[in-house]
Amino acid sequence: MNLGINIDHVATLRQARKGENPDPVWAAVICELAGCDSIVCHLREDRRHIQDRDVYLLKQVIKTRLNLEMALSDEIIKIALDVKPYQVTLVPEKREELTTEGGLDIIRNFDRVKESAEKFHKAGIIVSLFIEPDEKQILSSKKTGAEFIEIHTGRYAETRTEKDAAAELEKISKATAYALSIGMRVNAGHGLDYKNTAPICKIKGIEELNIGYSIIGRSVLIGLENAVKEMLNIIEMEVIL
Ligand code: PXP
Repeated sequence: MNLGINIDHVATLRQARKGENPDPVWAAVICELAGCDSIVCHLREDRRHIQDRDVYLLKQVIKTRLNLEMALSDEIIKIALDVKPYQVTLVPEKREELTTEGGLDIIRNFDRVKESAEKFHKAGIIVSLFIEPDEKQILSSKKTGAEFIEIHTGRYAETRTEKDAAAELEKISKATAYALSIGMRVNAGHGLDYKNTAPICKIKGIEELNIGYSIIGRSVLIGLENAVKEMLNIIEMEVIL
């Protein structure tokens, strides 16, 4: 199973001061050097984390695949068609949400999704739809012409009992099997962390997991010791980095 790393929250930290650091493009390169299979970022309409400049630079710099998450917004579609990432993942987006809440309703947005998928295909961009593990949504996704679904694992990640987790895993597993049976390819993601990812890996047929928050959050903790030592070095030795 492949790992795509979402680097949005490196940009969240940078935007806290609207400065230059930490640069999500540098972070993407480190993720690639560590062995990830793709880089994921979400260019939101409110530009709260990833900026246009990041997307253009990521396309030029990274050596794996760029998976651009985006809402069905004319402005962002135009940018995506200009950048030409390897893949776009269409997600729902509400301004007031903290992160993507729930999957995109393909049945309700069918015409718009299909029309956008056609535009992306003409530009040679692969299309993935971020949806709930639901057969009707999967069938509708297939009819849009999209190659991939990304199953929203957020509800599974939020479960607090083994019984609830098992029930959500079963839904994800059945949704994966159904999608494969009608010729779709399957990714999954959202809310996956160091404790809840292993059971998802047992589901046959999921190609890629897209994980962001837990990895970027952990990197702050496991990288902090070195960062402090570097500063102590400067203070004690008057070293200039
Ligand atoms: N996949 C999609 C479609 C997402 O919108 C997100 C969050 O931006 C993720 C995966 C990664 O979720 P998390 O940051 O919770 O790992």
